[in-house]
Amino acid sequence: MDSSVSRGAGIANRTEASMEKIVSLAKRRGFVFQSSEIYGGQAGAWDYGPMGVELKNRISRFWWKEMTQLHDDIVGLDAAILMHPRTWEASGHVENFTDPLVDCKKCKQRFRADQIDPAKLAKKECPECGGELTETRKFNLMFKTNIGPVDDGSGLIYLRPETAQGIYVNYKNIVQSNRMKIPFGIAQIGKAFRNEIVTKNFIFRTCEFEQMEMQFFVKPGDDVKWFDYWRNQRWAYYEKLGVRMQKLRWHQHGPDELAHYAKDAYDIEYEFPMGFKELEGVHNRTNYDLSRHQEYSGKDLQYIDQDNNNERYIPYIIETSAGLTRQLLMVLCDAYEEENVAAKSAAGAESSNSDGASTTADDWRTVLHFHPNLAPVTVAVLPLMKKDGLAELAQDIRQGLKEEFATDYDQSGAIGRRYRRQDEIGTPFCVTVDYQTKEDGTVTVRFRDSMEQVRVHSGELESTLKRAIREYKRV
Ligand code: GAP
Repeated sequence: MDSSVSRGAGIANRTEASMEKIVSLAKRRGFVFQSSEIYGGQAGAWDYGPMGVELKNRISRFWWKEMTQLHDDIVGLDAAILMHPRTWEASGHVENFTDPLVDCKKCKQRFRADQIDPAKLAKKECPECGGELTETRKFNLMFKTNIGPVDDGSGLIYLRPETAQGIYVNYKNIVQSNRMKIPFGIAQIGKAFRNEIVTKNFIFRTCEFEQMEMQFFVKPGDDVKWFDYWRNQRWAYYEKLGVRMQKLRWHQHGPDELAHYAKDAYDIEYEFPMGFKELEGVHNRTNYDLSRHQEYSGKDLQYIDQDNNNERYIPYIIETSAGLTRQLLMVLCDAYEEENVAAKSAAGAESSNSDGASTTADDWRTVLHFHPNLAPVTVAVLPLMKKDGLAELAQDIRQGLKEEFATDYDQSGAIGRRYRRQDEIGTPFCVTVDYQTKEDGTVTVRFRDSMEQVRVHSGELESTLKRAIREYKRV
């Protein structure tokens, strides 16, 4: 929804994210900064600020727990980014990991040929300036660098474009060291690098990003069953993550979209402000990867099924491949809302008296509705005044919450403005310490989404917050 339209029309009390607003909030509140900004910025690279790194860590911990702790048959791995260059010959990346590229001879812009209007491409017409386009050529997306002291090409090495290959080359090590029996999986989170031609839409497509991948090794013939199983599991993951499921959909790859290794593939797509786009992929990679690594390394990568007369086979692989940084963008977009606070106050929530903010008919707040488990700050403690011992009391209360929750403390400015600041970073709970606290030990707990406030004894804060987190449902 275009926010200016709905706000201008004066009928909607809520508006959603546009990419410009997300980028602006991300910078303003310390989620994501442009890389090397003081030098004019580095295209395709972004830095995660204090709020961004917390959010990223929470998403990756959530994924890790789902995929390892809650699945007895999955173990973890942290493989090196730099791998033997033969890896990428075996995987097919040297030959096939390319985008079709065209340049405009006039405005010098570079485009992916498959993203240009086919009529314009056929006429070799630049979509930006109408100038003449070059012939389409293949452009390999892998970053090359050099290892060792001599820069004569003999030390050619690639920055990995996916984390998956680190899992395949370690599969035998893990079977042997951890006595894994098929079916089993290996999960990994780590950086990947791609020399993307078009890096627009903020952190959606970048040259440096993080992936969360899991490779599940199965007996040939069981692959379709496990493929369906993992599709269901990955859908359920997003339900648990707390995002709006109506914003998600499946997209099955057609024959011309399938990667060179895939027998079947589905993407989970999310409706970003720029439309439905891939969030993660579930792929049936067959035995392509292990067969190729066996061929290129000369090592026997067959699995020996000791429970089945030592039957030997090269396992099939079902892959679930998600981008961590792309998921963070999805979580930000999904959480973002501008909301008419006056309408809410009229409905009986926070009033101008309770938070000190004005509630005129045009009073809007920007709020991030993160699930409390993902929010960078879980609870902010705010003394109503700095004086009369309230600040010290609030600091003590914060201290008592630190072991269990990510906390913040803010004593500057009107209380209403402090609530709004916490809304903008998605803090689900604010605890306000006031004069009554000094008398009877009670504090106000203010809930971000409903803006409702309840009074509880500070001794009950931990249990109150834990229950609210357990029972959290976005409305
Ligand atoms: N191992 C399979 C694989 O890498 P992919 O579809 O190329 O498959 C998987 O990538 C996921 O990684 C994507 O769904 C996306 O979330 C993320 N991803 C891929 N390229 C990206 C990029 N340039 N920037 C950010 N995320 C990216």
